[in-house]
Amino acid sequence: MFTYTALISLVLSAPILSASCHVVRRSGCAIPNNKIANLPPALSQPDAKLAFVAVAIGTQNYTCGSTGTYTNVGAVAELFDISCLHNTFVFPAIPDIAIAAWKAAPPALSAQAVISGLHSFSSPEILGQHYYVTNPITGTGVNPKWDFTSQGATAGNKNAFVVAAKVNGTTAPTGSQDIDWVSLQALTGSLATEVYRTDTRLGQPPATCTPGSAEIAVKYAAKYWLFGGSIE
Ligand SMILES: *[C@@H]1O[C@H](CO)[C@@H](O)[C@H](O)[C@H]1NC(C)=O
Ligand SMILES: *[C@@H]1O[C@H](CO)[C@@H](O)[C@H](O)[C@H]1NC(C)=O
Repeated sequence: MFTYTALISLVLSAPILSASCHVVRRSGCAIPNNKIANLPPALSQPDAKLAFVAVAIGTQNYTCGSTGTYTNVGAVAELFDISCLHNTFVFPAIPDIAIAAWKAAPPALSAQAVISGLHSFSSPEILGQHYYVTNPITGTGVNPKWDFTSQGATAGNKNAFVVAAKVNGTTAPTGSQDIDWVSLQALTGSLATEVYRTDTRLGQPPATCTPGSAEIAVKYAAKYWLFGGSIE
């Protein structure tokens, strides 16, 4: 049974597991393999070189439409570096550990609070935040952003972000309770040219809702992979 404590020990164990890794500029450890394991056929492998791999915990937000079904209106999440776990046996288990810890956290505790709690126990592992912004090209609608401008090795670099648009998506291989795996292409920002969301856990809204009811935030976890980009 994974617990909140298990996530803390996972994070604490990262420096030990990473002892043999080469330290690179942007991620804690060099990531030798560009490919994403077990990518469903609907998503083609990225072309660019892998720059960051992260696990995220956060919420997917939904509003209730007039037809009584939920529509996604954005997400907010905290990302932390798992590059040093990439070649370890822990790597496939990370999404399960993360969602278990996130679900076990008291409702009042934000993803940020959970992460900063972990942060105080271990070396800095936070890469940045994921949230939605107005589409920077059209000025209408919202698009996902990954913002690494205030954390980690990229802190203070105002170009360390990417706003992206979805290219392809497919249902999660783990079941309908988990949000889709998606690939996205950059619109603006230098952090990445391609972004993938994989290994999703939860995040789906209830099947129906009462029109006029309040926005809901559903906890989720996922891996995010950022490829390409040109951050100095
Ligand atoms: C998106 O899906 C289409 C059709 O399945 C495929 O031809 C294309 O290569 C995919 N593109 C990406 C970026 O995954
Ligand atoms: C999503 O929900 C979270 C938690 O309630 C909130 O902090 C955030 O501002 C919301 N974001 C959007 C885009 O609705």
